[in-house]
Amino acid sequence: MAKIPPGVGPRFPQVVVLVGATGDLARRKLLPGLFHLCSAGFIPGCRIIGVSLDELDVEGFRAAARSALDEFGSRKTTPAAWEAFAATLDYVPLSAGAAALRAAVDRAEASLGTECQRLHYLSVPPSAALTVVRTLGEAGLVERSRIVMEKPFGTDLASAVALNGKLHEVFQEEQIFRIDHFLGKEPAQNILAFRFANGLFEPIWNRNFIDHVQIDVPETLGLGKRAGFYEQTGAYRDMVVTHLFQILAFMAMEPPTALEPAPISEEKNKVFRSMEPIQPGDVVRGQYSGYRGEEGVDPDSDTETFIALKCHIDNWRWAGVPFYLRTGKRMAEGQRIISIAFREPPKSMFPPGSGVGAQGPDHLTFDLADASKMSLSFYGKRPGPGMRLDKLSLQFAMRDTGMAGEVLEAYERLILDAMRGDRTLFTTAEGIERLWEVSTQLLESPPPVRLYEQGSWGPKPVHQLIAPHAWRLPFERAWRDPNKVGS
Ligand code: BG6
Repeated sequence: MAKIPPGVGPRFPQVVVLVGATGDLARRKLLPGLFHLCSAGFIPGCRIIGVSLDELDVEGFRAAARSALDEFGSRKTTPAAWEAFAATLDYVPLSAGAAALRAAVDRAEASLGTECQRLHYLSVPPSAALTVVRTLGEAGLVERSRIVMEKPFGTDLASAVALNGKLHEVFQEEQIFRIDHFLGKEPAQNILAFRFANGLFEPIWNRNFIDHVQIDVPETLGLGKRAGFYEQTGAYRDMVVTHLFQILAFMAMEPPTALEPAPISEEKNKVFRSMEPIQPGDVVRGQYSGYRGEEGVDPDSDTETFIALKCHIDNWRWAGVPFYLRTGKRMAEGQRIISIAFREPPKSMFPPGSGVGAQGPDHLTFDLADASKMSLSFYGKRPGPGMRLDKLSLQFAMRDTGMAGEVLEAYERLILDAMRGDRTLFTTAEGIERLWEVSTQLLESPPPVRLYEQGSWGPKPVHQLIAPHAWRLPFERAWRDPNKVGS
């Protein structure tokens, strides 16, 4: 096992209360993530107490955890590592109540035999969050604890304000970690490095040089077993008001005074404060055909599985620069990109038909997929006689550096940060409430949902939304593969 450098793990052993322990997120990400953190030695001394509505016993929960690792774990599970992890697991059904939960935590702490800290991870829908918070309070599990709240945090401004108010009756703000796993992705943090560790790009990172920005996250995935959650949530609450706006803030914020939680949050929140309210006329909502026939979905459902919108940040840096956001389920491709289109030259001296401008403006593109790629496209001369121009590009892939190796998956990184009390990559109550505030008109008068074919790029009006520009995806030129000459 690789040695974990000192200071990377938490100071104290951890007792994790994982609420929603048999749900989709726990199975896909949280249990495999906790397994990796434990088995790689990041959290020596850890006990995990699963809690959910399912009436399981400990063995039943261990079996569920094992099947989650087999299905979704991206790393090898050796018998010894599994045995060690299984021994850390305990289970309490929610119906057993506060006293039973308290007893399980006491047992776990006694088995660790030293001062420890508690991490309550609430992987539950917004409607269930408060009941769980109250149970934790009743069980006396607030002391020495931190609480991780999954998104979406509330469903609109009023519910987010109410949730924050009630949450503060039980937990102090310093104990609350509102998670947005897109901020835990390596490529998202690399936006900060790229912008603020280099002198080259920051001078042109503004309205004088940038024409528009796209944040595009199409998914090929469908609902899986999440119809119950998704029907109440939809693409806007699931993805935009959360992940896409957080990424937008990293892209648009001013340089923070330090790479620390308060200055970073302050700059992100300034972006949100400058954001103009989202206008329903600037939004296209879609639903893939066949959605209403899926198990658990209302046959008359109005829930959007796709959304595209235009928004504006009305400050000195960005006034007049449209930001186009798009995401949806069952689309043609799974991608996560930020694409920055630069202004075109004011005048062209190239002869007609030379090709200048024919393939759109110069672009800087970040690929937020796990491989972390970047590309800068520009016009250059095609070799040979005359002056024919082609769109060329400089491309970078982290993979090619040989440094991509042991990346922590987004949830792993953020769980570890929460255990260490580092809130740099977490969102704040103020920021979230402001995002709900700019969403009010849209939530109150949403445009009608339009059907789109599964495997497509969304309903037709999505092209009018971005006109006179065009969506970068699908890419006209694929990423170059360094192993293929001429690609
Ligand atoms: C989750 C959403 O937060 O993010 C899902 O609830 C979505 O609907 C997922 O599929 C996408 O995350 P990732 O890390 O797979 O890009």
